[in-house]
Amino acid sequence: MNILILGGGGFIGQKLARKLAETGTLRGKAIDRLVLADIAAPAPIDAPFPVETRTTDITDRASVDAVIDPQTDVIFHLAAVVSSHAEAEFDTGMAVNLTGVLNVLDRCRALPATPVLVFTSSLAVFGGEVPDPIEDWTIPNPQTSYGTQKAIGELLVNDYSRRGFVDGRGFRLPTIAVRPGKPNRAASSFMSSIIREPLNGVEAVCPVDPDFKHYYLSPRRCVENLIRGAEIAAEDLGMNRCMSMPGQTLSIRQMIDAMTAVAGPEPAKLIRWEEQPEIGAIVSGWRYDYNPAKALALGLIADDGFEENVRFYIKDDMPAA
Ligand SMILES: NC(=O)c1ccc[n+]([C@@H]2O[C@H](COP(=O)([O-])OP(=O)(O)OC[C@H]3O[C@@H](n4cnc5c(N)ncnc54)[C@H](O)[C@@H]3O)[C@@H](O)[C@H]2O)c1
Repeated sequence: MNILILGGGGFIGQKLARKLAETGTLRGKAIDRLVLADIAAPAPIDAPFPVETRTTDITDRASVDAVIDPQTDVIFHLAAVVSSHAEAEFDTGMAVNLTGVLNVLDRCRALPATPVLVFTSSLAVFGGEVPDPIEDWTIPNPQTSYGTQKAIGELLVNDYSRRGFVDGRGFRLPTIAVRPGKPNRAASSFMSSIIREPLNGVEAVCPVDPDFKHYYLSPRRCVENLIRGAEIAAEDLGMNRCMSMPGQTLSIRQMIDAMTAVAGPEPAKLIRWEEQPEIGAIVSGWRYDYNPAKALALGLIADDGFEENVRFYIKDDMPAA
């Protein structure tokens, strides 16, 4: 079993690689080789099988052709520029999130054997005038360039799969929290910061009120779901291979209560409430009510309460004091 992770240097890519190293198998077969590819060389990981790290630019077809060799059985396509970046730099978003996907699909089409392709889409494909809850079959109506690029990617994954060029499956990720590391440029950055920073004894700003609701999944469950997603038999996927990944709808208050239940009352005291209208204007337009029925039926799961997300962060990612 030869596996390639495009975007293998990123947050989810690195976690996925470590999980594959731990389990050593995928789709019932031992892993023979794992390639991690990213625009900058990914950090190497320890594994009981060979792991290669490659510098690859998915906007460049020759670079994609070089990294996807005919032995590749499963590709996790995680490489992307995220929402705020694609909104600020339209051309970069189109090149990476659209041309990049097309380059990967066309390379798969040219291979002698059909690889499994796991595509990470986003709930940002939804928006606008559609009723709640958002079902798997709700019409995508993205309100950002990023969401539009991901929605087109989903259609391409479906059509290339229908034609037998690739065995694709796409999952719309919820917001992944608690994300380790430093705050980033994403408007959603505070959704992890308000838990991560206080757990580390550092003040964090919450720019929305405690009743603000959103849809979340832990990094650990996300990685498990991507692996499960790769293992689903093609015949079980039906006529739309793209679906929402399960998550939980939570208010900020519920998240903070969960942190207090796990870590005691001190961290919550480090949250400073400071309304930021520019952040509020973006995130208040996001949807939080989803019914991920198809993925649940196929064995993907959500966290069991936000306490799990907090415990997973402490166990998997929190820097030692
Ligand atoms: N983390 C989330 O909350 C979330 C939510 C919804 C969807 N997603 C999707 O999940 C995937 C992984 O997200 P993540 O949080 O790990 O993001 P990330 O930014 O940590 O990882 C993405 C990786 O793609 C790489 N990349 C960018 N341009 C590239 C190029 N031209 N060639 C090769 N690699 C390139 C980046 O260097 C980065 O390492 C992405 O497709 C993202 O759109 C993530």
